[in-house]
Amino acid sequence: MDKIIIEGGKRLSGTIPISGAKNAALTLIPCALLTDEPLTLRNLPRLADIDGFQHLMNQFGVTTAIQGSRPEDFGRVMTLEATRITGTVAPYDLVRKMRASILVLGPMLARMGEATVSLPGGCAIGNRPIDLHLKALEAFGAQIELAQGYVRAHAPDGGLPGGEFDFPVVSVGATENALMAAVLANGTCRLRNAAREPEIVDLCNLLVAMGAEIEGIGSSELTVHGVKRLHGATYRVMADRIEAGSYACAAAITGGEVYLDGARADEMEATLHALRNIGVTYDADKKGVRIAAEGPLKATNLSTAPYPGLATDMQAQLMALLTVAEGTSVLTETIFENRYMHVPELARMGADIETSGRTAIVKGVPKLHGAEVMATDLRASMSLVIAGLAAEGQTQVRRLYHLDRGYERLEEKLALVGAQVERVGDD
Ligand code: EPZ
Repeated sequence: MDKIIIEGGKRLSGTIPISGAKNAALTLIPCALLTDEPLTLRNLPRLADIDGFQHLMNQFGVTTAIQGSRPEDFGRVMTLEATRITGTVAPYDLVRKMRASILVLGPMLARMGEATVSLPGGCAIGNRPIDLHLKALEAFGAQIELAQGYVRAHAPDGGLPGGEFDFPVVSVGATENALMAAVLANGTCRLRNAAREPEIVDLCNLLVAMGAEIEGIGSSELTVHGVKRLHGATYRVMADRIEAGSYACAAAITGGEVYLDGARADEMEATLHALRNIGVTYDADKKGVRIAAEGPLKATNLSTAPYPGLATDMQAQLMALLTVAEGTSVLTETIFENRYMHVPELARMGADIETSGRTAIVKGVPKLHGAEVMATDLRASMSLVIAGLAAEGQTQVRRLYHLDRGYERLEEKLALVGAQVERVGDD
């Protein structure tokens, strides 16, 4: 396992290229199952989970080829071809390593009329049920059974007849699975209180490029008129708004000024609004967003919510920033039940944070001090890196495999803007 060693106190300045969005790529890749023609995805980030998903697709007989990057993209190009699907089972040993594998359920059911996927189980931030995925598919006419830790889904012979489903809770993954099942249904499917994250819009845009008929894209009410077949497409994955927000926090905590090349302000408004309340300025142009923190950082209250609210994936990073802001901030995590594992680690660096259930009270301190800290989940790890960039002295962040799931070439990108970071093996 590797670790990152950070010498804090360096002001970040310069340009950081933003990669393709992990959470968009993980729902675009399984769309290859929906057609027997080639699907080419551009600007794919170099991340462990993307490699994992490529491996899973190969298990189904999908051929995949990775080309290099195009000049205008930071990411790779991958062509997937599901001419013949030789298997419809996503096994436990693959799903347990990457819970996003559950996103093969909808497209596999749509293409093959059946799918068997291991239950993903929980993870560090919560027990992550998939009941809404299954209820949405049943509403469209799928038969679902749970046996020996697997979900078995079947569609009637003529394909899913279609139907309607009102989500009691907004769910990104369940909306994605439902959409990918609906596009080849033998009827019309309607979703209400669907997730509206930009990654959902990216998925809808790809499905439409493949020949799907979807109304209400970007809204919480989606109507899909099933079509007989979909064709291949070439599609560029959107920029990663969470990576961009994370580096914005990194620049801000060092009092720096950084241009996030490829970031789109209209996809990260809630994060930019929070940063502005903290005293961080930003200005956007066609190609990216410039972040600058000149004055002192000010405390503010934050509450995560489904898009267009503040992304839960930004909570840990903003908390790191608030640990050195003037005043007391109150954070409320409304999406996941256990997303404060960064708190004890930040406390070891001198942060003053108290949590109670879904609420965290952050009292700003003048300075953090470097320490050896442990990454526990993806966004928690990034909050420790952000804190380490501002802390006095050296910080070592261990268990980097968490970070590598969501941040491509992190130390390279930070070094580009003047951070003193080094990645070493952790014996
Ligand atoms: C996606 O997870 C993202 N992952 C998460 O990003 C992100 O935090 C989350 O959406 C919320 O924005 C990917 O896109 C691969 P949900 P997902 O279904 O789809 C409950 C990261 O750091 N729920 O929107 O699993 C669930 O427990 C990761 O990049 C049910 O109760 O999230 C949670 O409380 C972490 N039943 C809430 O809904 C279900 O069937 C939102 O979950 C599904 C979800």
